[in-house]
Amino acid sequence: MSSAAEPTQPPASPAEGKSVALVTGASGGIGTGLVAAFRHAGYSVVATSLSIGPSDDHDILAVQSDITEVGPAQRVVKQAVDRFGRIDTLINTAGIFIGKPFTDYTLDDYKAIMAVNLAGFFHITQPVIRHMLTQGTGGHIVNITTSLVDHPDSTRPSALASLTKGGLAAVTRSLAIEYASRRHQDPIHDPSSYEGMAALHPLGRIGEVSDIIDAILYLEGATFVTGEILHVDGGQAAGHVERPPRHNQP
Ligand SMILES: NC(=O)c1ccc[n+]([C@@H]2O[C@H](COP(=O)([O-])OP(=O)(O)OC[C@H]3O[C@@H](n4cnc5c(N)ncnc54)[C@H](OP(=O)(O)O)[C@@H]3O)[C@@H](O)[C@H]2O)c1
Repeated sequence: MSSAAEPTQPPASPAEGKSVALVTGASGGIGTGLVAAFRHAGYSVVATSLSIGPSDDHDILAVQSDITEVGPAQRVVKQAVDRFGRIDTLINTAGIFIGKPFTDYTLDDYKAIMAVNLAGFFHITQPVIRHMLTQGTGGHIVNITTSLVDHPDSTRPSALASLTKGGLAAVTRSLAIEYASRRHQDPIHDPSSYEGMAALHPLGRIGEVSDIIDAILYLEGATFVTGEILHVDGGQAAGHVERPPRHNQP
């Protein structure tokens, strides 16, 4: 599971109304749990999947959509904005898994898994990020991958899962770095100064004690996480951001 985030802070609460999360694959086990968890956290939620049914909750907009098609995916984003006025978080949960020996995969297997896991990601994430940029308050993109990307298992051959989810893991880092500086247009500073060191971090600031505490408290409550190297580093493990000089400084 990986996360690409534009800002370092949680989504800003809109002046009116709640923050909004869009969850794909919302009819599945993880997606259903995410919808409930975000509602519990006070978000309005757009829950989408191929076959999802309507919700009685006024703060959940359930939208049936096939994200392998660009038009339906874009309509989900439009409906989300029409209904709730904003999108703060997108969680790409929709995914399919086809496990078999590599030489047994059919062309139909290949097309199906590429269509949901990669094209589906692209179709929905692009308009969401466009909207977030217009919105101007940042946002979070979370992509659900699989541990098989980093740890293939000979007893569970699944190369197409690795091919597609590995792409998601890579693009997560790529987007994190591409958009890291959108909210940080720092002037050039002496590299040895506090501000100069902050500029070395993709997120444009130095870590605070509270950042470490947040991570440790997360681990304290995350009872299914162990042996994990959690980078609390302002995005440095994901990549490098080159900040262009600003010429309007005094
Ligand atoms: N469960 C695991 O053990 C596990 C392990 C590693 C990674 N993951 C990943 O975690 C994510 C969620 O897993 P899960 O087990 O909770 O999934 P799941 O129960 O199989 O649900 C998959 C979801 O994807 C949706 N979906 C499939 N094709 C779609 C399409 N063309 N357009 C729109 N939505 C589509 C499904 O919608 P419908 O139900 O409406 O068809 C469903 O909501 C997946 O990305 C999976 O690869 C899961």
